[in-house]
Amino acid sequence: MCGIVAYIGPKQAYPILIKGLQRLEYRGYDSAGVALLNDELRLFKTKGKVSKLKEFLNGQHLPGTIGIAHTRWATHGEPNQINAHPHFSQSKSLAIIHNGIIENYALIKEELIKRGYKFESDTDTEVLVNLIEDIRNNEGVLLDEAVRLALNQVVGAYAIVVLSKDHPNTLIAARKGSPLVIGIGKDDYHVASDATPIIEYTKDVVYLEDEEVAIITRNQELKIKSIKNKDKTPYIQQLEWNLAELEKGGYEHFMLKEINEQARSIRDSMRGRLKAREGIVALGGVKEYEQKILKANRIIIVACGTSWHAGLVGEYLFEDLARIPVEVEYASEFRYRNPIINENDVIIAISQSGETADTLAAIELAKKKGATILGICNVVGSSIPRATHAGSYTHAGPEIGVASTKAFTAQVTILTLMALRMAQMKGTIPRTRFMHLLHSLDILPDKVEEMLEDDSVVRLIAEEFKDAGNFLYLGRGYNFPVALEGALKLKEISYIHAEGYPAAEMKHGPIALIDENMPVVVISPYVGIYDKVVSNIREVKARNGKVIAIVTKGDTTVKDIADYVIEIPKTEEILVPILATIPLQKLAYYIAILRGCNVDQPRNLAKSVTVE
Ligand code: G6P
Repeated sequence: MCGIVAYIGPKQAYPILIKGLQRLEYRGYDSAGVALLNDELRLFKTKGKVSKLKEFLNGQHLPGTIGIAHTRWATHGEPNQINAHPHFSQSKSLAIIHNGIIENYALIKEELIKRGYKFESDTDTEVLVNLIEDIRNNEGVLLDEAVRLALNQVVGAYAIVVLSKDHPNTLIAARKGSPLVIGIGKDDYHVASDATPIIEYTKDVVYLEDEEVAIITRNQELKIKSIKNKDKTPYIQQLEWNLAELEKGGYEHFMLKEINEQARSIRDSMRGRLKAREGIVALGGVKEYEQKILKANRIIIVACGTSWHAGLVGEYLFEDLARIPVEVEYASEFRYRNPIINENDVIIAISQSGETADTLAAIELAKKKGATILGICNVVGSSIPRATHAGSYTHAGPEIGVASTKAFTAQVTILTLMALRMAQMKGTIPRTRFMHLLHSLDILPDKVEEMLEDDSVVRLIAEEFKDAGNFLYLGRGYNFPVALEGALKLKEISYIHAEGYPAAEMKHGPIALIDENMPVVVISPYVGIYDKVVSNIREVKARNGKVIAIVTKGDTTVKDIADYVIEIPKTEEILVPILATIPLQKLAYYIAILRGCNVDQPRNLAKSVTVE
């Protein structure tokens, strides 16, 4: 969702800003713009992709060593050129870029209109920049002070960068509830909404905290203060990701690259945490909280989207292995339904980006009620890990494709490690079984690798069903969340309507939809209540549905009934979700490609949903 890039230093800003916007394209957006300051403060924006903005500016002389740029995902006002950022203040001496939502913008706007301000756009952002201008003019204060005072009046979320015609050597940045990172170069500064546009220039970064204002001045040290005017000492951290991880590395799409990286990403998520032969599972980040989890009334997992599906697998894992009661909640529902939580509850917040606004709000709510909050996140230094008491990073590496793939399998890997550790501490599974599960987990990446080698069957199935109007995905037990995730992947990137259902629940509704045109994907590995799932497949076949089954290698029963089978290597029931999800990711990918869809940036979706 919305991307921010800003630069100040000795180099020409425009190429850096455009490249930065391209790095942020994965977040999802519908218009783009840039403001550059040389002698004049100039602003350019277009509806649509960054490439369109680039094309529009092609051949123009665009000097300036300070500038701001933005990709906008529309919230207030339709996605058009006028509503695109940056926005000028009325006098055109200030320009602003903004992520987030100013909730009381209408009231402030009314007040400003009375004071003679006129507005061109429908955005809350234009209101904010005029408020800053009004304060600066009327209070006679410096720019940073005007920004600080203005931010004291706004309710809502923001990450902003302000550029002023009268201050060619300064950028003012601030955040609340929406991320902002400042990269500190040798003689320059980069600002961005996440680290991806910064990595190629510097690894030293400062993550702004909520309600902090940064005064970024050419050739001077970074200054940070709170919006309550307290000086803060910048805390410089090192970025761990490298540039190669942000490139497609020979693949046509990030999504395919990320699907194919999963043997590595699962291994990395276990590295140093699993010593199978010694019987050791150690998650350093949550060690201090292990007793708390053991004694918890229950675990509540909060998340959104694909991370919520990982949470559902977590529910099966914790209850089955460690006998700890678990509830899994959509963060967006949890935060508004007055949940009963107390200090004996442990919340696990799962998020790839670490920035999802609803998940963050759910954390804040549970924290206020005294619960212990743990996080499972992928992006180091992002907001959720900083809001939690402790947690484990997934180490999947940057995920750029909007549809989450390797982050999901890494999240499930961490949940498996956590549940196994709890089971070990509680003694809820026999030692021999525990050791066997550790061994199976240890060799799982090899099985993933083996599975990724050949996707000819999946491609064939994709070809066959690319024109389907609907899909049904069925699974039971550990594989019910896999059915949900498979359906989500398909609808996200191919725009085919798809529903995931617990297989047995099909007869209470979806069965009415089944005819010879309905492809039904059934996750039916040879584990758990296999026979029951086979019966569900027969129910589909009896109504002429087309069955695509995910089966354990060597299975013959399902092979005889299903129209198509995709084989996965044999593994333990608790580990099947990781293996079974991967061919479903590929199926969605190939169908979307055959339908000519933009798989890395599907319409209307954002990678990082920073507004509620
Ligand atoms: C968006 C993304 C999904 C993701 C969800 C939750 O909808 O498009 O891929 O699963 O947000 O994001 P998070 O970063 O919290 O895992």
